Amino acid sequence: MDKYIIEGGEKLYGRVQIQSAKNTVLPLLAASVLTDEQVKIRGMPAINDVENMLHILTEVGCLIKRQKDCAVIDSSNAVSHEIPTRLTKELRSSVFMLGSVLTRFRKAKISYPGGCDIGLRPIDLHLSGLKRLGVKIKEKDGYIHCSADRLKGAEILLDFPSVGATENIILAAVKAEGFTVIRNAAKEPEIVDLQNFLNAMGAKVRGAGGGTVVIEGVNRLHSVEYTPIGDRIEAGTYLIAGATCGGEIEINGVPPENIAALLHKLRENGCKIHTKNDKIILWSDGRLRSVDLVETMPFPGFPTDLQAQYTALCTTASGSTLIVENLFETRYRYAAELKRMGADITVRGRTALVRGVERLHGACVTASDLRGGAALVVAALKADGQSEVMDLSHIDRGYADFEGKLRRLGAKIRRIRI
Ligand code: UD1
Repeated sequence: MDKYIIEGGEKLYGRVQIQSAKNTVLPLLAASVLTDEQVKIRGMPAINDVENMLHILTEVGCLIKRQKDCAVIDSSNAVSHEIPTRLTKELRSSVFMLGSVLTRFRKAKISYPGGCDIGLRPIDLHLSGLKRLGVKIKEKDGYIHCSADRLKGAEILLDFPSVGATENIILAAVKAEGFTVIRNAAKEPEIVDLQNFLNAMGAKVRGAGGGTVVIEGVNRLHSVEYTPIGDRIEAGTYLIAGATCGGEIEINGVPPENIAALLHKLRENGCKIHTKNDKIILWSDGRLRSVDLVETMPFPGFPTDLQAQYTALCTTASGSTLIVENLFETRYRYAAELKRMGADITVRGRTALVRGVERLHGACVTASDLRGGAALVVAALKADGQSEVMDLSHIDRGYADFEGKLRRLGAKIRRIRI
């Protein structure tokens, strides 16, 4: 179990090239079983969630070739409709396999998925959408058994614009008979990327990014080579680190409109931000002022996946910020660790009141989820003295070479194997 040793107090200067988005690569990998021709995905991020998804594909019978940062998936010999339980527990996105495996085999078996421990995270919206497409679902002994003689297009209204449910339904509908219309669909950029990827395979999906997605079923999907979009959450994390510590950083590979909600807040905090195409340049003197309120919302609102890192920023901004987490119930576990560094945070249910303090001090803290772990690193970079961030397995799920990229910006951070 590795840990970071961080000497805080350095300003950050330099450029970061952003990796492909975890949250687009995972559904794309799941989608690769929709064709028995080769799927080549470029720019694969070296993160554990992606490795786990590749293991799942291998266990259902896909052949995977790695060439540098490309993965070539050949699922022509895929045989199994059962998603392996051990890996499902590790990775919530294994649930995307349900839609694509159903399309491929007309049946699927999966146990309830795992992932970050940030709340209930049910999959009722996924399942009710699949039922509308004609899937029969039985739950027995902790497993979900799905089967369908045929998948038939339908009108589906999501009670909530769930990212995963939207993606799963698209994956189950691409080869269904007729048209499927998903209303109140999630609008995240990753849904648009999934649509572009599927259309490059010969699917007929339109409307992604706009709330209503229309899928016309096709008979066949073919091979594809694809480079996924950049990771807006990774980009946002480095921007928040730069804003908190002060300095000047340039982020390459993410369209600014994909993190407009964060950029808006950072400007209010006192950062100067310049954007051009896929480049974002941020200047900060490290002395930020608080904004009154930040509420997480589905896209284009403030992303829940940046809530923890942004809270770390607020801990040393002048004034108070009320954070409201609207998506997940228990996404403040990191707050207790920030308090060990001197942060002043009061958490009540879905809200956290952060009163900015003059300085944080180094401490030994433990990451308990992916983004909460990143928040602890941001705080440790700002804090006086030395910090230790324990249990990097969570951070490794979603950030490739986190310490290397931060070191190149001038941070004093090293990984220790314990
Ligand atoms: C995806 C992202 C995750 C991000 C989240 C919200 C991936 C791999 N993960 O997760 O990083 O934090 O979007 O932007 O893309 N819900 C239900 N029933 C369901 C499905 C969801 O009640 O069947 C609820 C959830 O409990 C949660 C909310 O809807 O409160 C949002 O969840 P959803 O958009 O589905 O998130 P994920 O797809 O799990």
